[in-house]
Amino acid sequence: ESLLQEENLLKGKKVLVTAGPTQEALDPVRFITNHSSGKMGYEIARAARNMGADVTLISGPVALDAPADVHMIPIISANDMFTAVKENYKDMDIIIKAAAVGDYRPQIIAENKIKKQGDTLEIKFVKNPDILAYLGEHKKEHQVICGFAMETQNLIENAKEKLMKKNCDMIIANNLKVEGAGFQTDTNVATIIKKDTIETLDKMSKYDLGKTILHHICDIMDEKKG
Ligand code: CTP
Ligand code: CA
Repeated sequence: ESLLQEENLLKGKKVLVTAGPTQEALDPVRFITNHSSGKMGYEIARAARNMGADVTLISGPVALDAPADVHMIPIISANDMFTAVKENYKDMDIIIKAAAVGDYRPQIIAENKIKKQGDTLEIKFVKNPDILAYLGEHKKEHQVICGFAMETQNLIENAKEKLMKKNCDMIIANNLKVEGAGFQTDTNVATIIKKDTIETLDKMSKYDLGKTILHHICDIMDEKKG
């Protein structure tokens, strides 16, 4: 495809990407998080910008530079991300939820550092809001919503269930047990799941996967237009 075509494909479209991990505080010095590097979401944001989109990137704490010409909203916790998403999703045309959102947070954030005591420590967790499910419930007519699914088993089955349950148009399923896929790598091995189709892609760079995802989203937008 020509560069010109790539530059124009998302011209005038507003794209929201969430990326990175969330951090859930335990006390003033500790938190629970996951291995998300943010690379996938940042590469999607970069690809969308290069395709002419107006891009907003809501990101958990990562060690990456913000892509140029992208509206950055840094957040820490899942609740912070939820607030930022609710403030920004309404006029978005495309929403891509690449973030690895913590499913639970400690019920209590201790005001002071938790002191070492017995041989075991119990912490009670409470569920975080499911941001993607919220977006699915409040989806606008013109919106295309793309989620991710991280799985170590029953990849297709579990991802398909997430697609239906969360009312997404598309899910990118990552098998964390495949070589060259996952959190810290520059490449990914993904399966693109839509309501009626499943396509497993070859290993490719996260940037190229970002472009491929955005092309699939353009197809869905064309189908919606009829
Ligand atoms: N997600 C979200 N809010 C949460 C949890 C997940 O928006 N509280 C989104 C993720 O950003 C991702 C999708 O939901 O796009 C699937 O995340 P995943 O962790 O694979 O699935 P869960 O629904 O959380 O189920 P589980 O972790 O039990 O597999
Ligand atoms: Ca989860």
